[in-house]
Amino acid sequence: MLELTPELKLNSDIPLYSQLYEYIKSSILKGELKAGERLPSIRYLAQYLKVSKNTVVTAYDQLLAEGYISSSDRSGIFVEKLQKEILDKTYAQSFPLIKVNKKSAVHDPNFDYRCGQIDVRNFSFSLWKKVLEQCISSDMSDLLTYGEHQGEIGLRAELAHYLFLSRGVKCSPEQIIIGAGTQQSLSMLCLALNDIGSYMAFEEPGYNGARQVFINNGFEVNPVPLEEDGININELKKSLSKIVYITPSHQFPCGMVMPVAKRLELLHWAASVNGYIIEDDYDGEFRYQGKPIPALQGLDTSGSVIYLGTFSKSLTPSIRISYMVLPERLLKIFKHRCGIYEQPVSRLEQKALQLFIDRGYWHRHIKKTRNIYKKKHDLLLDSITDIMGDAVEVIGKDAGLHILLRVKNDMNELQLIESAYRSGVSVSPTSQYWHNSNTISAPLIFLSFGGIELDNIRESIVRLKKCWLQ
Ligand SMILES: Cc1ncc(COP(=O)(O)O)c(C=O)c1O
Repeated sequence: MLELTPELKLNSDIPLYSQLYEYIKSSILKGELKAGERLPSIRYLAQYLKVSKNTVVTAYDQLLAEGYISSSDRSGIFVEKLQKEILDKTYAQSFPLIKVNKKSAVHDPNFDYRCGQIDVRNFSFSLWKKVLEQCISSDMSDLLTYGEHQGEIGLRAELAHYLFLSRGVKCSPEQIIIGAGTQQSLSMLCLALNDIGSYMAFEEPGYNGARQVFINNGFEVNPVPLEEDGININELKKSLSKIVYITPSHQFPCGMVMPVAKRLELLHWAASVNGYIIEDDYDGEFRYQGKPIPALQGLDTSGSVIYLGTFSKSLTPSIRISYMVLPERLLKIFKHRCGIYEQPVSRLEQKALQLFIDRGYWHRHIKKTRNIYKKKHDLLLDSITDIMGDAVEVIGKDAGLHILLRVKNDMNELQLIESAYRSGVSVSPTSQYWHNSNTISAPLIFLSFGGIELDNIRESIVRLKKCWLQ
């Protein structure tokens, strides 16, 4: 068994588990810890480092979730196999300098699990009002004129800083383009991508809102099936596509996390075909086991990743602000073709958002809502286990704002949704996420737990059991 001797700093702002996680991760990436090597047991390492068992468990959990290690109940915890030549290249790459300037027909809204809901009760109205008011003043009269094409530089600088620290994304503010929601960002992106090829590989199932944008922009979509750990790379290689759209940190809608070995393989593929990976990190802030999973973009060394994010989950969808990070080689093409387009998002709101982030309000909001969503997530899963037991299967837990349910009865998707609705519970279908819906084996129901009140979760599951299983 290995001895690990990280230098853990007790007085640091970085939690101990995070220091331990970083130490092991970088040892694996540098090749100091080799594939197949067995890591010390949790108890042993906790005693040896004089830290709590929780510290080691949390660090190991995060490494497991990201695919750096694997565990088996009987034989222990082992370093996973990663492609050596890609690892060397990945680790050798230095970080670029970051310049930081410093209701429809819902008859019982109490039981609303429809897609896209967030917790509106805990939105910080007073803080948002404060920053907006500050922008609507004669001191800021400059904001009444046209702004920069790529979006406010102050907001982009805040984002570059946040993305590096929280999501592991390496970029300068100049690489960021602010957009009015993911679909608008993707529509612009299509203009820059259309000579890379006319095929777009796409997760099957995947986010239909993005798929339709590609179709509308003339791409032929190649649906690529998912495996347990994300898109099937062998199938991707067989397709004619040089571009792939993926959701690696929390696959939409199935919820799996793409492990690092697969991320590296995908990057290798993109570099070998001189193509692009479009990484949609739509809800990466919300992970309830360990830390959020760092973005794939941070591992890229050949300028193959286009990174997209949105404020729709982490603040509110009504703000309609998204962002896109382009690799340098694509940025040139983008500027050439799209440089003339005016920025679609209000300057006042961009500036307000910049202040909201700069003052730490957004960070506070994410921390607060992450706790709230975790409580809802945990209670929902406990209620499902207690009340429905083995009669349903839960798919895609531990992250984001939704889970999927496979209900073990004879009802089809429409029957499941209609019977739930008659019982006062609004749930959503998932068949629209398949390009070829005839390949769906059994219906899956979408439960978005962001909006429902904590106190209503148990009752809603009791109602679902009555209408689905009795
Ligand atoms: C995969 C995915 N990407 C992005 C979004 C958000 O898009 P927007 O920024 O347009 O609100 C969603 C919303 O549900 C989504 O499921």
